[in-house]
Amino acid sequence: MEKLVSLCKRRGFVFQSSEIYGGLNGCWDYGPLGVELLRNVKEEWWRTMTSREDIEGIDASILMHPRVWEASGHVENFTDPMVDCKECKARFRADQIEDAMCGNNAYKGRKAHKCQAEGKFTEARQFNLMFRTFVGPVEEAGSAVYLRPETAQGIYVNFLNVQSSSRQKPPFGIAQIGKAFRNEINTKNFLFRTREFEQMEMQFFVKPGTDEEWFNYWKERRMQWFLGLGIGSEKLQYHRHEPDKLAHYAKDAFDIEYLFPFGWGEIEGIHNRTDFDLSRHEQFSGKAMKYFDEQSKERYTPYIIETSAGASRSFMAFLVDAYREEEAPTSDGKMELRVVMHFHPRLAPIKAAVFPLVNRDGMPEIAQKLETALRASFKVFYDDSGAVGRRYRRQDEIGTPFCLTIDSQTLEDQTVTVRERDTMVQERIGIDRAAAYVREKLHA
Ligand code: GAP
Repeated sequence: MEKLVSLCKRRGFVFQSSEIYGGLNGCWDYGPLGVELLRNVKEEWWRTMTSREDIEGIDASILMHPRVWEASGHVENFTDPMVDCKECKARFRADQIEDAMCGNNAYKGRKAHKCQAEGKFTEARQFNLMFRTFVGPVEEAGSAVYLRPETAQGIYVNFLNVQSSSRQKPPFGIAQIGKAFRNEINTKNFLFRTREFEQMEMQFFVKPGTDEEWFNYWKERRMQWFLGLGIGSEKLQYHRHEPDKLAHYAKDAFDIEYLFPFGWGEIEGIHNRTDFDLSRHEQFSGKAMKYFDEQSKERYTPYIIETSAGASRSFMAFLVDAYREEEAPTSDGKMELRVVMHFHPRLAPIKAAVFPLVNRDGMPEIAQKLETALRASFKVFYDDSGAVGRRYRRQDEIGTPFCLTIDSQTLEDQTVTVRERDTMVQERIGIDRAAAYVREKLHA
């Protein structure tokens, strides 16, 4: 993890938030390469979901009516037990003291359970994880709202708006990508648990009685999505929630977990939420949330199958999974260590790099022309400094799948060398085929 975090900063994937002020715990900024990778992850998810005829997209506001969070159960249930240290004022989750360390400067690195044994902690209290703020100029209870802790509720309250405007009938789904905020007591493991993060949620509305079938369907589909984008099957597993561990709204639940360097961690949850959400919003808003089937003349409250992935956590899983240190041959036949990010080509932040072999003989002009042509369709990087071997290494480290080199042969026959990142195999193709070549490989 340390190597990865340092590469992320050095190459511009992820920076600490407000770094020049010492950072803000649990918040991170995506740099030039990180934002491309994150956008590619979200784009893949969005395309997978909304290219289906039975899924519509939505983008709901972050601030919602405060009653939404009463209906959802977040005001009552979205809490963690917390204890405070009476001496240094550090705050810990009562159920995670065993592994926790004190973060306060004077006691940095001290094991929390030692302080607990010395009787320094308060009794456990429930702490709500929602961030509260105020609408309008007066900070009073009546104007309090919350930053949404999940994107799902924006979908539930719009169920009938989307259903009727897009003329969908259950079974159908609504997809949304957006920011969510949680005032986590213990932020940890880089992007894994943060206070501000993005979710990619799809809520699938089905007729009661068909819910188990759809639950199994989505559970499989979501696992396939991660596998299809190159994560090895040995690094992914399901974790089924025990009946006594299910969330208050769920009938059944599976997490998809990834094997991070610090152990297995949830990257997505698939829940059978029954008719809990729509029934609660009907009860709290006083507005009917049922679906009327014109054909069968039935009126019912759909069950919801939820697929809820963290965009930020998926980003981190793709990042961790791509990182390798490998032996690679140098141009003079020796072996050296290369750091390579084996991103799926569609996720790679930069799709192709263009190199003129030397900065003379008309090669830079041809290379710049090729770069401009490719840039119309892809994110491209132009590099004319240092030996070609070094330029390959720089691109390997950020996961660029294809490097195209203009050399003396290009001047004679208008071909370029394409070097593929994973195999390091080189082939020659016509320069006018370069864009089509990259496009074909991305969609192979
Ligand atoms: N609507 C259901 C829901 O929000 P969740 O299990 O609390 O369920 C879903 O969150 C996903 O959101 C998780 O699988 C994880 O990928 C991501 N997530 C949750 N809390 C997070 C946090 N503090 N930091 C980063 N990602 C988080």
